[in-house]
Amino acid sequence: MEDKLKKLETKIAEAKLGGGEKRIESQHKKGKLTARERIHFLMDEGTFEEIGMLVTHRSTDFGLDKQKILGDGVVTGYGEINGRLTYVFAQDFTVLGGSLAEAHAEKICKIMDLAMKNGAPVLGLNDSGGARIQEGVVSLGGYADIFYRNTLSSGVIPQLSAIMGPCAGGAVYSPALTDFIAMVENTSYMFVTGPNVVKTVTHEEVTSEELGGASAHSTKSGVTHFTFENEIACINGMKNLLSYMPQNCEEEAPSIPYTPGDETRALLNDIIPDNPNQPYDIREVIDGTVDENSFTEVHKDFAANIVVGFARLAGKSIGIVANQPAYLAGVLDIDSSTKAARFVRFCDSFNIPLLVFEDVPGFLPGTDQEWNAIITNGAKLLYAFSEATVPRITVITRKAYGGAYDVMNSKHIGADMNYAWPSAEIAVMGAKGAAEIIFKNEINNADDPAAKLAEKEAEYAHIFANPYRAAARGYVDQVIRPDQTREKLIKAFKMLENKAVTLPKKKHGNIPL
Ligand code: HXC
Repeated sequence: MEDKLKKLETKIAEAKLGGGEKRIESQHKKGKLTARERIHFLMDEGTFEEIGMLVTHRSTDFGLDKQKILGDGVVTGYGEINGRLTYVFAQDFTVLGGSLAEAHAEKICKIMDLAMKNGAPVLGLNDSGGARIQEGVVSLGGYADIFYRNTLSSGVIPQLSAIMGPCAGGAVYSPALTDFIAMVENTSYMFVTGPNVVKTVTHEEVTSEELGGASAHSTKSGVTHFTFENEIACINGMKNLLSYMPQNCEEEAPSIPYTPGDETRALLNDIIPDNPNQPYDIREVIDGTVDENSFTEVHKDFAANIVVGFARLAGKSIGIVANQPAYLAGVLDIDSSTKAARFVRFCDSFNIPLLVFEDVPGFLPGTDQEWNAIITNGAKLLYAFSEATVPRITVITRKAYGGAYDVMNSKHIGADMNYAWPSAEIAVMGAKGAAEIIFKNEINNADDPAAKLAEKEAEYAHIFANPYRAAARGYVDQVIRPDQTREKLIKAFKMLENKAVTLPKKKHGNIPL
């Protein structure tokens, strides 16, 4: 038995060494951790159980028969994160560059299947050169097996991707199919084709960082939802994110203990400026309303005219969507619509109630927006809210103009409760624009057109630049003092706790993609 135990120990030690000391050293020199080190920091101590440590590939082409490394470049298994079951895979860049082929893919698929059967999240730590070139088509098949499972798992269990090194070619599409992507600054890249191919095809000269670094994907493409300074911050960010989510679509998100107290928040009375055209930061409204320090913003650096993220209200997880008057006046455009729509769909998939803060002057006009399909993209947000069956509440803080009023979780598309602050202006458009259109002739024919415009603008504003017309129709359920907002929301979400809505029977809808 002793010999046999020794053999086992030797094999485990060999597997743990991955691609060898030299490559581990080179990984560390780049400021990166190894796959096993990442898992060590991610999972609760002593809970990680590895699956498939001794798996090897079966290829012989291009010298691969001499490069059979135990584990085949990916560490897979399960354990606990904050006491909750989570499945994890971590690609090992020290083994053939973390490249993916048949056996590597089978290991990932195995834990994805277990996660689906047992209803728990999958977290992928990605660090891979893409399809293992020496294995040819079986690498492509392996990717497709994962993509298929990503798609079937979507909306059933949360799937999170941390990008912790290069992710090239096929390596980017599995993360793209998951719910959230996080990238580490300066050491991670995502691209379908790297700088060399780009140069050959389009003659553009671009570095990896410019093409697909964390900054490019957080600000330009919106591919990544989060960026972190280093790997430890990224791992902690993923743990925090999971804490807002249920294990699967049948469960509720965990809540944290909460002791009721005075819910009045006087500071909310002082945020809206007297001048309706002056910006303010909607994050002050969010932070002033939700449980202290509970707001985690998602997609912070992309489409800043809308703010989305998770928070807790009286200890319970909620999703927040809020127009941001401090950026482009909070206007809805293509990027902000798609950003918010995706977030709304995530929350609805996983039973996370939605809170909307609305201050929106309308949709952004212009050829750029029209030719890039603001119609189709704006419709995504309309669709996402309309089909969401979770408890949904809107607070109109200031402007609710035009089509954007309808889109931003109005009662008409199924919101459960709509509140307005006394500063709310609910109208087809701003008073000046409205006066210019409906009193055009009167203004043009006046002795003093500017004075006439001001008079008509004031007339329109008097009638519509307030919440009372909408309240009279019941489109707004209550006009509330800002300082009462938190108390009203806690009560209303509690009232909606058992909300049950069934959508019409269908295979699936056809969201305007
Ligand atoms: C096999 C690979 C590999 C790959 C890297 N390696 N990528 N082996 N298949 N795809 C190996 C290298 O040979 C090297 O082995 C080790 O990993 C580290 O690679 P380096 O190049 O030394 O590292 P670095 O300089 O950091 O560059 C990393 C990289 C680069 C940017 C990822 O290696 C690279 O560009 N790789 C190719 C990317 C690619 O084109 N992939 C295929 C995409 S096609 P040694 O033994 O020296 O340590 C694809 C199709 C799928 O994925 C489509 C599905 C939809």
